[in-house]
Amino acid sequence: MEPAERLKKIPPYLFMSLRKKIAAARAGGMDIIDLAIGDPVETPPQAVIEELCRRAGEPANHRYPLDEEKGMLAFRSEVARWYGRRYGVSLDPAGEVLGLIGSKEGCHHFVLARINPGDVVLMTDPGYPAYRASILMGGGIPHTMSITAANDYLPVFEDIPASILKRARGMFLNYPNNPTGACATTAFFERVVVFAGQNDIAVCHDNPYSEVVFDGQRRLSFLSVPGAKDVGVELNSLSKPYNMCGWRLGMASGNPDLIAAMSKVKENTDSGIFNPIQYAGIRALAGEEAAIDQMIGIYGRRRKIVLETLRRIGIDFSPPKGTFYLWVPVPKGMTSQGFAERLFDKTSVVTAAGTAYGQYGEGFIRISLTVPDERLAEAMARIEREFS
Ligand SMILES: Cc1ncc(COP(=O)(O)O)c(C=O)c1O
Repeated sequence: MEPAERLKKIPPYLFMSLRKKIAAARAGGMDIIDLAIGDPVETPPQAVIEELCRRAGEPANHRYPLDEEKGMLAFRSEVARWYGRRYGVSLDPAGEVLGLIGSKEGCHHFVLARINPGDVVLMTDPGYPAYRASILMGGGIPHTMSITAANDYLPVFEDIPASILKRARGMFLNYPNNPTGACATTAFFERVVVFAGQNDIAVCHDNPYSEVVFDGQRRLSFLSVPGAKDVGVELNSLSKPYNMCGWRLGMASGNPDLIAAMSKVKENTDSGIFNPIQYAGIRALAGEEAAIDQMIGIYGRRRKIVLETLRRIGIDFSPPKGTFYLWVPVPKGMTSQGFAERLFDKTSVVTAAGTAYGQYGEGFIRISLTVPDERLAEAMARIEREFS
């Protein structure tokens, strides 16, 4: 059976092919350590798991979710309180918050809610590959803005050709950034608000790593900048701060017109999030800030292990301060793919080649810190043996 044309434009999802490669190597008896995928091994806080179980025991929670597509008002209200406490952002839970099954869903719904066929949507290179897929599935045309160390991995809007700008109706941004780890500044977000306002561009700031920052880096929401709500929405998620990737729980917040449009997409796509997951999400957002501190402690320790090993083998760099990834320059004379393949072949350590995130990812690999300490230490020992 022939699939739809729109799907043919979407490149295969990197991690699907990597998963197959890893499964085949493991079946062949190799002791693979996977540092490519960002999927925390730690579990959510115990109280959150208990709340899920307790709520699953209530018969009413097996019916269609309360408040259906928008998410429970109690969940949206807790999101608003969390944003107020953590980011100093004021949100009206009734009209400015939408519950999601993860921020990834929000990327897709943002495009369907805002973009007409043939509209240009701006995204960064390197960038999270799901943006391109969402843009293409929604009939939009992706235009990439390169981000490099020279510009602190922030796009330079002046470089966008006028002919592209005229057709641009949306923009994805993501700071702390996957894959580079770069963080934005308030000054940059202020520039985004002006640029988006002047050019009638709706902004989708994808912020699932907002809590994953190190070395005194400030947690930052796009919505904390004056005028941000006039031009866009921010996506966030419980996946990373509370180790809840598999639960599929997130939120979109911000511009009420965009939130209403995204709700309409969701209303016509699914019937909302399982109530017990929303109740457990409330528990996480309301009372588990200690879990976030613990998570930062764990990743901070692992970052140190990786950076020290890399320094000893001659890869010395000062990494940006966000996300649980390290964007690592490859040794001179090697390509991203070549270095990743050498690591795989010689050490059985899987990393993501930077080019999987765009052409400006050449020269880098991405290392994820979401494996247990002892496996990370083993991976680093193998790499050190291979390269010293
Ligand atoms: C930039 C970015 N956005 C969104 C997601 C998806 O997160 P969620 O689990 O909230 O859907 C990821 C996951 O890795 C990501 O890196």
